[in-house]
Amino acid sequence: MQATERGIVEIEDEFRIPLYHKRDIALVRGEGPYLWDAQGKRYLDMMSNYGVAILGHSHPAVTAAIVEQAGRLVSCHQSFYNDTRAQFSDALQALLRGTLRHISFGNSGAEAVEAALKYARAATGRQRLISTKRAYHGRTFGALSVTGEQKHRESFAPLLDCCEQIPFGNLEAARASLTGAAAMIVEPVQGESGVRAASEEYLHGLRRICDDTGALLIYDEVQTAFRTGRTFAFEHSGAAPDIMTLAKPLANGLPIGVTVVSSHVASAIPLGSHGSTFGGNPLVCAAGIATLSVVAEPNFNRHVSEVGQTFLDRLRAIEHPLIREARGLGLMVAVELKRNASPVLQCMQHQGVLAIPAGSTCVRFLPPLIVEEEHLTHAAEVFEEALKTVGEKEEDARCP
Ligand SMILES: Cc1ncc(COP(=O)(O)O)c(C=O)c1O
Repeated sequence: MQATERGIVEIEDEFRIPLYHKRDIALVRGEGPYLWDAQGKRYLDMMSNYGVAILGHSHPAVTAAIVEQAGRLVSCHQSFYNDTRAQFSDALQALLRGTLRHISFGNSGAEAVEAALKYARAATGRQRLISTKRAYHGRTFGALSVTGEQKHRESFAPLLDCCEQIPFGNLEAARASLTGAAAMIVEPVQGESGVRAASEEYLHGLRRICDDTGALLIYDEVQTAFRTGRTFAFEHSGAAPDIMTLAKPLANGLPIGVTVVSSHVASAIPLGSHGSTFGGNPLVCAAGIATLSVVAEPNFNRHVSEVGQTFLDRLRAIEHPLIREARGLGLMVAVELKRNASPVLQCMQHQGVLAIPAGSTCVRFLPPLIVEEEHLTHAAEVFEEALKTVGEKEEDARCP
């Protein structure tokens, strides 16, 4: 039975736990950088479902890979070998270029972080986990314990013991905290809190302090991988981690989480100490192989870097009293406003462009990485129009 949009909203609202601020449209179809709602209205997707549909929607190669694999073998527990998982591991290793040679599989970003924290404790025999203020690493207990934002944490205390948040970008605080710690976990570009890039000096400094203290350096690249104009965001600095978490973009929207570690860390993780029933399943790995083969194309990063910079320049050229700052790296971009971003997002949605918030005051753009300049120009125009429509004060919001 075909549900009407009213039906969809009513049904979800009747049964959901109210965890999300819902947007008032039901998305039912996607193709390339576009999504359609149940009424047939088309939207330019400038958020790729929070950074996952990097090749756009219904990408033919990904769809074909899923269909082929679904007809052959969907699940295969990791205690058995599997051809598709092996091929995915090979493809991921080619992108990693030898930095972190050992892979474990889960199903989400939070799971990848969870594994990373466990491996850090197992490999060092130490307990303390250091992260940064405003960091976002996920909602499971371990990931939440290293997440900085109080609003995500307060209903669930007590969280893990021995976790400490230090200011992002402050090497003195890192040096003071990392002695005797198991690990430092950091996003090379903080995503959820508003797209703030770590400086190269900061990442090099963390690497040096970790080397001096024996703590492990974990990069959380769940959101940044493939999106910043380098395959991995840490490559902008060249300061390599001991452990890295990956998830969102790896299979163009199918659920996957991967934790990659150095040989030194892998050799210290006890056999049987971690695992996941669904992790590394062939269906997701097939989608992953198709996705990574596009990411590996020679011009992929250059495209992301060039169109991302043009977009950021275009946003920076907008003069409007509501804008505090536009910032970004590649196609990970945010404009921080002097007021709540929701009415602007709502206005853009009304005009057929979907962006997302970061924190409460940022309009964040995480478009599919295949977008062309014309899409981004249109998005910037709609954003500028939305700013004009929305007043400077909360009560002035005029958008539907
Ligand atoms: C940097 C980072 N780590 C971890 C996560 C958690 O990922 P998931 O929502 O797949 O659990 C996110 C999600 O936004 C993220 O941005």
